[in-house]
Amino acid sequence: MASVLLTGIGELVTNDPTVGDRSRLGLLTDAALVVDDGHVAWVGDRVAAPEADTSVDAGGRAVIPGFVDSHSHLVFAGDRSAEFAARMTGEPYTAGGIRTTVAATRAATDETLTAGVGRLVAEMSRQGTTTIEIKSGYGLTAHDESRALAIARQFTDETTYLGAHVVPSEYADDVASYVELVTGPMLEASRPYAHWIDVFCEDGAFDADQARTILTAGASVGLTPRVHANQLGPGPGVQVACEVGAASADHCTHLTDADVAALADSGVVATLLPGVEFSTRSPYPDARQLLAAGVTVALASDCNPGSCYTSSMPLCVALAVREMQMSPAEALWSATGGGALALRLDKVGWLGVGASADLVVLDAPSYIHLAYRPGVPLVSTVWRRGRQVV
Ligand code: NIG
Ligand code: FE
Repeated sequence: MASVLLTGIGELVTNDPTVGDRSRLGLLTDAALVVDDGHVAWVGDRVAAPEADTSVDAGGRAVIPGFVDSHSHLVFAGDRSAEFAARMTGEPYTAGGIRTTVAATRAATDETLTAGVGRLVAEMSRQGTTTIEIKSGYGLTAHDESRALAIARQFTDETTYLGAHVVPSEYADDVASYVELVTGPMLEASRPYAHWIDVFCEDGAFDADQARTILTAGASVGLTPRVHANQLGPGPGVQVACEVGAASADHCTHLTDADVAALADSGVVATLLPGVEFSTRSPYPDARQLLAAGVTVALASDCNPGSCYTSSMPLCVALAVREMQMSPAEALWSATGGGALALRLDKVGWLGVGASADLVVLDAPSYIHLAYRPGVPLVSTVWRRGRQVV
């Protein structure tokens, strides 16, 4: 692969605090960057840049690391826009809506599901996402969960087995048997295609004991836990996530002081999903409390057909700034470096020598415009693993 010098960068966010302004974003101005063999080979002052095989002028635009969207549910069929419309006129969001998507997903062909994921992944890519986690969770049989994960695997290595998304109708009277299925044959069928295991620990889904059992079973076959925690109300999800050493507790909308302390002590990443609160018209998580306690905060889309059908990380950044009082710098870091920590990836989410060349050129002079100009398509070009993909 020919090396490329990307020069004329008005503002470069490296997420490397040892360079530039020494802030967490490691900001450089009037900068350049060399991409070689899929990686960043050099970063620094434009005037000091080495030669490369080809050169691209960013024309003073800002360059940021590609977004790391560490939480999405893209393998589904059907449409729940009517449920959204009902919510906007006063109906509450409940976990039960998931079953509507389960029925449609089970009935869909592999081709339909694969095309749907491909469309959403392309949509994400156009909005600057270069690393994506994708969960199963709308199949809820051994066959349908492993099928969803095999499809997701065609698009990313960051696949998550979420057989414990909700108890399907056919097991409504026998939850214990469903947990046996999730920890037995369904896990066995899903494991070859999954890297992570997740549980929706919430009233109306799975309780703390069930969540522990399921996450432990997954961990025993090599899947690392992550948890849907404290989304719809206070509950044990965050504590379970900390107990089992999950990579991330996601949602974190209803936390007690003890939950915040547990996250801070354990190092479990709190992944906030502000698109969900926006799309369900619910109170936002208290990002400031988490940050003040020293918790690592990530931002992700949670793109799914029910609680939040946006694929846009720039929207999530704008919501985090405007609705959760995160600074533009905190929000951008959480959507890039924070997402990488939530997925325990060390080559993405930053732009320094040795990092994966995953970057976004913004049609703006500064990353601050992501929040300052909400809803505006600011993504100009996107490079993933050293190749221009948008
Ligand atoms: O993360 N909370 C559970 N799962 C999804 C919602 C899924 C759905 O409504 O279909 C979420 O919000
Ligand atoms: Fe989710």
